[in-house]
Amino acid sequence: MTSRVALVTGGTGGIGTAICQRLARMGHRVATNYRDEAKARAWQQKLKEHGTDVAIVPGDVTSVESAAAMVRGVEQALGPVEILINNAGITRDGTFHKMTPPQWMDVINTNLNSCYNVTRPVIDGMRERKWGRIIQISSINGLKGQYGQANYAASKAGMHGFTISLARENAKLGITVNTVSPGYVATDMVMAVPEEVRAKIAADIPTGRLGTPEEIAYAVAFLVAEEAAWITGSNLDINGGHHMGW
Ligand code: CAA
Repeated sequence: MTSRVALVTGGTGGIGTAICQRLARMGHRVATNYRDEAKARAWQQKLKEHGTDVAIVPGDVTSVESAAAMVRGVEQALGPVEILINNAGITRDGTFHKMTPPQWMDVINTNLNSCYNVTRPVIDGMRERKWGRIIQISSINGLKGQYGQANYAASKAGMHGFTISLARENAKLGITVNTVSPGYVATDMVMAVPEEVRAKIAADIPTGRLGTPEEIAYAVAFLVAEEAAWITGSNLDINGGHHMGW
């Protein structure tokens, strides 16, 4: 297997951690960004104790300048970014008729504008080297909508629009661009949903349980493989059958 340089944004979160670990165990050199250095160092140490090395670089994905500096930091530490996982994301749930401007802007900036901010500084290098893997971590709710998530669903649906346009523009240059849309996975983000609401959601999942972060990381590993060169512009739903479409 060829060892590649991978940048996973928001790698210290629930799904992000599993992606970092999986890619590192595959033999890739992995980096993620942080805003809180002490927290990130503690996270990095914990992963080290479990046998995986992940580089950490400062970077705020909502800022064009900070994201560019973050990419430069990864390049200095590990080399040019060959695999990019746009995973950083937040929720600020609330019904739309009560939604404040920060609730809307923060979610769009973190989940969607970040895709521009982080992908723009890596795309030229991928095009020159004629190899790249870019994956957006979207959501089931970008496909089906969710009560209280007009901001989040808009950002997550937008991520897939980004995927399919970028896939077309770069298909001849050895770069694949895909979306992974997780359903409800047992992370802090999902556990923050009020318990009675969560119970109702869980009862609706055909597999009868929430997903695990490792189940999402498995799909990412599949899509970044050398053999996945003809999979581009696709969306991979991983949601325990919670939302099925085609
Ligand atoms: N369908 C219909 N009605 C619903 C509803 C639903 N799914 N959810 C809530 N309601 C109703 C409530 O029963 C309540 O009705 P009554 O007033 O008649 O009692 C009313 O909506 C509450 O409305 P409010 O405007 O007062 O709502 P709120 O401001 O308190 O917000 C909420 C409620 C934030 C939307 C809360 O219901 C919630 O957190 N829902 C979960 C949202 C969710 O799924 N978030 C996913 C987070 S994890 C994630 O996003 C990861 C991923 O990718 C999957």
